[in-house]
Amino acid sequence: MQAFVTRRIPREGLAALSQAGVCSIQQWDSDEPIPRSELLAGVAGKHGLLCLLSDRIDKEVLDAAGSNLKIISTLSVGVDHLALEEIKKRGIRVGYTPDILTDATAELSVALLLATCRRLPESVEEVKNGGWTTWKPLWMCGYGLSDSTVGIIGLGRIGQAVARRLKPFGVKKFLYTGSRPKPESAVEFQADFVPLAKLAEESDFVVVTCSLTPDTKGMCNKDFFSRMKKTSVLINTSRGAVVNQEDLYQALVSGQIAAAGLDVTTPEPLPTDHPLLSLKNCVILPHIGSATYATRSAMSVLSANNLLAGLKGENMPSELQL
Ligand code: NDP
Ligand code: DGY
Repeated sequence: MQAFVTRRIPREGLAALSQAGVCSIQQWDSDEPIPRSELLAGVAGKHGLLCLLSDRIDKEVLDAAGSNLKIISTLSVGVDHLALEEIKKRGIRVGYTPDILTDATAELSVALLLATCRRLPESVEEVKNGGWTTWKPLWMCGYGLSDSTVGIIGLGRIGQAVARRLKPFGVKKFLYTGSRPKPESAVEFQADFVPLAKLAEESDFVVVTCSLTPDTKGMCNKDFFSRMKKTSVLINTSRGAVVNQEDLYQALVSGQIAAAGLDVTTPEPLPTDHPLLSLKNCVILPHIGSATYATRSAMSVLSANNLLAGLKGENMPSELQL
């Protein structure tokens, strides 16, 4: 059997693949994304594909792969880059990497929240550029978590891990929204399930940790921001497309909301001349939620083991239910 790996991945994952003796490996051995033409050529005739969130696996790729392709293993928990209906129709199984990246992503979400609400990048810049002239009572003030209301959009694995980390900061109330109430998850935080509009209206901090689906695309839009308090902060560590960036820009410029912290954008990378990058009240990171050495190593091993198990016709350690 033959498998195609679309990027250079941590050596632990590659070692797991090559030492298993289950398949021969062809790899796009670069830190940079594979060009589309190389992906289409590389996947042809392969039985397995190990891909990344930056690879759009659509009908064209599946057609290029042909009927040999039985397993797609993505080095991500997010699966919005996969044409799942088409994949299901062809009987292809999908592996992904839930759980092992939850802690790292929740930790980064909290770091981004604190950096944004306490204006850390702006403050660091002021120290460097001479803007720090003396201690001033009204200078560089932000918003704190103590006594606040935090609204979580998507109380899934990462959403819960974020809430768990924020609770000790003295959060007064947690709200959450999703496709249905999850009392078993919410009980730990005494979180109330509310409609999206109410979450926008009552939260001091909105943290977006849902998956990107047709329902969540553009969910944080003009109407959503118009309901938020002028003192509220938006954090998005989900996918860029959940937020309407033009509407966010207007909300930040007009003072409709206080600030935003984004680990994910549309597109990625965000062009360096993008209007959002000109705003002091917008902190943007380059999609580093899961970027700890240990987590990326574990993701590579899990995605390798998913691929291998699938190729052998066995249960995968983490298979997406299609
Ligand atoms: P989970 O599946 O555990 O959680 C996803 C959550 O999205 C669920 O709670 C689900 O709620 C919620 N959701 C689905 N539809 C809606 C909706 N219409 N409104 C509100 N919430 C909704 O996944 P994870 O927590 O493991 O990961 C979540 C996402 O985080 C990933 O899909 C990925 O896009 C992103 N991610 C980003 C990273 C980064 O580097 N920034 C790292 C890792 C993940 P319900 O069950 O009620 O539908
Ligand atoms: C994912 O896994 O979906 C993240 O975006 C990257 O770890």
